[in-house]
Amino acid sequence: MRRKYVAGNWKMNLNLAEARELIEGIRSKFPSAPPVDLAVFPPYVLLFPMAKALAGSTIKLGGQNCYFELKGAFTGEISPLMLKDTGCQAVIMGHSERRHGFGEPGELLKKKVHAALGDGLEVIYCIGETLEEREAGQTEAVLARQIREVLGPDVVLDNITLAYEPVWAIGTGRTATSAQAQEAHAFVRQEIEKRYNGSSAQTVRIQYGGSVKADNARELMSQPDVDGVLVGGASLKADEFVGIINGAVVASGLK
Ligand code: PGA
Repeated sequence: MRRKYVAGNWKMNLNLAEARELIEGIRSKFPSAPPVDLAVFPPYVLLFPMAKALAGSTIKLGGQNCYFELKGAFTGEISPLMLKDTGCQAVIMGHSERRHGFGEPGELLKKKVHAALGDGLEVIYCIGETLEEREAGQTEAVLARQIREVLGPDVVLDNITLAYEPVWAIGTGRTATSAQAQEAHAFVRQEIEKRYNGSSAQTVRIQYGGSVKADNARELMSQPDVDGVLVGGASLKADEFVGIINGAVVASGLK
């Protein structure tokens, strides 16, 4: 059975005091580790202190992005090994805010995913269609392209989690219905089967992201192909994030 995976993408939010309080608030609710995988993705400048705040917990630390080069004259960028040096185990790639806000194309993402995996980071690779693409009936074509551009036989899938994040649901309060999420996830799994094989398709985890909250998390994660959630806004509040984790625990028991 695929273990549920709840990740919090803090984006460009929180100062040091707020971040410490958030981690403290989450940890205090789980004196023993819940039976799901957890990760937080703070802004770069908070990574070292958050590694300290997370010491002794099973919550993984991750970066929101990184470059593909090891080092050098790349002002403003950081490398996968620099992330690892702070204590990170994971990185997010292909988030819609990077694709659409910063214009990152598939070929760049492929290099970044390769570099991150090569340097021993786990990757959450985000894919998802815009509202126009959905309304034009292009959802599956877009997902297939975003998978094809980055994943294939030359990329080992073991350390990759996919995140289906419909762009129209991110930060809008408009969550995909659990049926819409399930449909997209089942399609993504089929595409993984085509690019890899049946057993990879069955083992790879696919998170849903886009306006996930404590009150919709359980239902989303109860869908057969929804293996967790990537949470933005609601990961900034301890009570909400704890509620989402509890939703994952309940949903794990339902399957
Ligand atoms: P949201 O963001 O939960 O605030 O919609 C999700 C994401 O961007 O990963």
